[in-house]
Amino acid sequence: MLDDLDRNRRGFANVPVEDGRLLRLLTEAIGAKKVVEIGASNGYSAIWICLGLRATGGRLITHEIDAERAALAKANFRRAGVEGLVTVVEGDAHETVKGLEGPIDLLFLDADKPGYLDYLGKLLPLVRPGGLVLAHNMRRPEPDPRFVEAIATNPDLETLFLNMGEAGMGVSLKKR
Ligand SMILES: C[S@@+](CC[C@H](N)C(=O)[O-])C[C@H]1O[C@@H](n2cnc3c(N)ncnc32)[C@H](O)[C@@H]1O
Repeated sequence: MLDDLDRNRRGFANVPVEDGRLLRLLTEAIGAKKVVEIGASNGYSAIWICLGLRATGGRLITHEIDAERAALAKANFRRAGVEGLVTVVEGDAHETVKGLEGPIDLLFLDADKPGYLDYLGKLLPLVRPGGLVLAHNMRRPEPDPRFVEAIATNPDLETLFLNMGEAGMGVSLKKR
């Protein structure tokens, strides 16, 4: 299923396979029970996250502004057999995330790049100490420098930049 989506990724801006594997591994490694994704597209990265959540018994809430993509993501979750692990929230995530409650174990940002700073401001307070904020496209397309500075200099965060040979992933630990 993931191979099939990978072969037909054109137009969906999915994470590269290495970033998908990283999402699965980190979800499982921290024993995530509640994961929030901003930017579902057709559900590719969410399915990787769900592979980790199968091992932890957790759940994913993913957000998508485009109704067609949200419907496609739901269909792909059914095809992958993970529909019971995911809730898809349709609409502008800058608004819809206001309904979220913590604690969030892992937050994955992969939607409108200029919006990352707003998502961080709204959702970092809900991420538990010891939780992770993952931010996609820290290399390309070019990230918002204000966001990069925020995750690199916030004293509450310890940030690494991984897989920078491709799109690039920011991995920030919310310190205990
Ligand atoms: C890079 S794609 C996500 C790819 C997905 N994470 C994956 O790897 O399979 C970004 C998605 O964010 C969605 N998006 C953009 N702005 C948004 C917003 N304000 N609220 C919710 N979704 C948004 C787009 O419609 C698009 O489907």
